[in-house]
Order: sequence, then structure tokens, then C-alpha cells
Amino acid sequence: MPHRNLEKCLKLVEEDKAITSPAAKMPYYPLVVKKAKGSILEDLDGNTYIDMLSSAGAINTGHCHPKVVDAIQKQAADLILYTHVYMYHEPLVNLTKELISISPGDYRKRVFYGLCGSDANDGAIKLARWATGRTKIVSFIRSYHGSTYGAISLSAISLPMRRGIGPLLPDIYHVPYPDTYRTPFPGMNEDEVAEYTLKVIREALETYIPADEVAAFIMEPIQGDAGLIIPPIKFVKDLKKLCEKHGILFFSEEVQQGFGRTGKWFGIENFDVVPDGIIMGKAMASGLPLGGVVARADLMDDWQAPAHLFTAAGNPVCCAASIATIEVIREEKVLEHTLAMGDYTMKRFRKMQEKYELIGDVRGMGLSIGVDLVKDRESRERNCEAAAKICYRTWEKGVLLSFFSGSVLRIQPPLVIRQEELKSALDAIEESITEYLKGDIPDSVLETIKGW
Ligand SMILES: Cc1ncc(COP(=O)(O)O)c(C=O)c1O
Repeated sequence: MPHRNLEKCLKLVEEDKAITSPAAKMPYYPLVVKKAKGSILEDLDGNTYIDMLSSAGAINTGHCHPKVVDAIQKQAADLILYTHVYMYHEPLVNLTKELISISPGDYRKRVFYGLCGSDANDGAIKLARWATGRTKIVSFIRSYHGSTYGAISLSAISLPMRRGIGPLLPDIYHVPYPDTYRTPFPGMNEDEVAEYTLKVIREALETYIPADEVAAFIMEPIQGDAGLIIPPIKFVKDLKKLCEKHGILFFSEEVQQGFGRTGKWFGIENFDVVPDGIIMGKAMASGLPLGGVVARADLMDDWQAPAHLFTAAGNPVCCAASIATIEVIREEKVLEHTLAMGDYTMKRFRKMQEKYELIGDVRGMGLSIGVDLVKDRESRERNCEAAAKICYRTWEKGVLLSFFSGSVLRIQPPLVIRQEELKSALDAIEESITEYLKGDIPDSVLETIKGW
């Protein structure tokens, strides 16, 4: 194991632990990021790491992309904020035109902005309720939508998120998401999972969630933090049809999968479904705080202020960063590169899966890939200890690797990552897997790495 000097990092971590709220921390290892460029991070002690997480999927264009940095610097020198609530500015109008052009659906659209993915979800709840005059919202078990009260109410993935802070928003319901790996009943194929899950939802609408009181379904096109669950295309299409039948809106929650992550601008485009609205955040402004919703204009045409606004939402600097982000994705053919690198990574993990029983499933689209570690392939029981130990060891080897849903290695590097960088990262992951299987990773690391 390369011995890394972590003196300054460890000192800062202790300071952080003593003075910041633990409610905002899901620790992996003592990595204090000082600088980052492209897919490479540098810590406070000068150690470098290949980034396989992109700051939780927020840095699709790579860290500090020169074009994004330039746009931020120029805009910050001219105007940092004049609230869009009272006045107007060019970067916001320019960005809005771009978002309207890249989002699916050839209907007339409007956009509203916020500061993160969570408040974008809140905005979607409000818009759906206001536009339909209905109160009920349906989201999915094991979904994560963020940390505001609305987003927590939509989420159903973790008890600590909800404990002791209630009551949450009323009239939000959760239905199962179609998981084709850990299927509702053993041995089900993809079509059966799709049909069964849809049957459960139909029954819910017929028995205890009156369909004519439902304003919207809010669905992640790939369930990210649940461990990258990819729904069958048939399920998404049939659900959209069911929504249409009952006059229910369908919002695609793209905070994690949007802006090229799956090799398309938005994840829902992989499912041949046109949503009524797209919920955005994270990678939208390459790391600056920006979120928003692009939706059918007719839903918003008569919406009156101050129903949904924030002083600094859609501020000029974040808008400039977002425009530059979209230009980089377009000019550097990032979508094509994402598909090529995604294919390369999937093939490499599938080869590992042939060698190591530990890898139960490899699934993904573009550079949104989950590697599900199991205790045995028959039971598909999650191997949380393996995920934690392998991530820790991989970090020791100079690769920032994390997991979600306890057992699923989260492979979401910057979309601009180069193949040589990916290869080094994948080599380090494979070495860590073999070291784990030999029993070479001590239990003591589990005291540090808690994860998600
Ligand atoms: C799918 C999804 N929605 C919403 C959010 C919340 O975004 P934010 O933390 O920017 O509020 C996240 C963050 O992880 C997410 O993955």
C-alpha cells in the first residue's frame, strides 16, 4: 500500500468534526480536497486521486473546466447578483433558451430556477398541485429527492432523513420502483417485474390513492441513490400512459442523471417517454448552486408570484456557468464520449463479474454505473462490508470511490474522464477486490467509512 502522508488532512478532519453538524456528513475517508482539475483531485497534503464520484454527480464537465471557470470569472467581474425576482438579466434568458432547446418535448415550455435539486423538487410539487388543482403526489420507495421538507417528503430511502422532524408534507404517497435484480418474487424476468409493479400501482390508484386526486408522479429515470436501479422501458412507457389516462402529470427527476450522465442530455430520453416536466440540479452549473424545472408552459402561464421564487435563484454567475457547461457538453461531444467510456467501463466490470462471485450485478447507462456486491449470487444479499472495505482500499490506492445503498459501488466519474484515467481507476478497484477476497483489508477501516 503506498504510504500517504495525511497529516494536514487528518488535522482538518478533526477540526471539521468538532464544529460542523453531523447531520450533513456521510463519511468515507479523510480526504480534504484542495484542488481539482478534470478528473484529478489533490488533497491538502499534495496526494492525488482519480475522481470516480464527480462530487456526487455534480461535475460532469470535469473539475474547473477552463471554459466554465472563464465564464464564472467574467460574469463575477460584471454582475454577481441582481435578483431576477424584481429585475432582468441576460445570462438567465440565454440559459432559459438553452434549457428549453435541450430538454425533451416539442411543446411550449417555461422554466423556473432555484439553488439546488431539493428546492427544484419542492417547486415541482407546488407547480403540479397548483396547475392541476389536485393535492396528491406519488413518488417511489427508495427514491432520494433531497433535503428540504418537500424533497424529504418525496424521498423514501432512509429513516434518519425523516426521524424526529415531522410532520412532513401531507398527501405524498410512495409506490414500488421496478427492480429487475432484487425482484419482487424470485425468478421474475424484466417484463414480469414491469407488469407486476405497474399492477401494484394501478391497484393503489383504484383502492386508496384516488387517481383523480393525483397531481403528479415524480420519478427518477434511474433510481440513483437506491443503487442505480434501471427500470424496464416498458414500465416507464406504461406508467406514462397510465398518467395520461388519469390526467396526472409526469415529472422526470433528473437531478442525478441529467446533463449527459447517461449519454443523453436527460435520462428519460433513454426510455422513449416525453415527460411534462424535468427537474434539474447538480451538474447543471458544473458545481455552482443552481437547480430548476423545465415544464409545459401551459402549467405555468398563469402561476402568480410569489408562489415560487428565491432571491439568488438563477443568479448571473450560476447561469453563466450553466451556459458554459452546456456549450462544453455540445462542443466537446461529451455525450458521445460518455457512451464510449461507459461501454469501456461496463465491459471491464462484466469481465470482473465473470471472475469474482462477489459481483452480483453490473448495471448502468453511460457513465452512471452501479456494481452490486453480494454475499452470494443465489440470495443476492447485499455485501455492505465488502463495499466499504473495497472503497477504502481503493482510496488508499489513489482513487476516490464511493458506494450507495450499502453495497453498490458508485461509478460516476466526470464525463470528460480520459480512457487512461479510467483504466488506472479500474485497475485499482480490481486490485482492491482481490485484496478484499484474500482478507487483506482490516476490519478497522469500517470505523472510518460509513457511507450511504
Ligand atoms: C436524484 C436526486 N434528487 C435530488 C437530489 C438533491 O439535490 P441537492 O442535494 O442538490 O439538493 C439528489 C442529491 O443527491 C439526487 O441524487
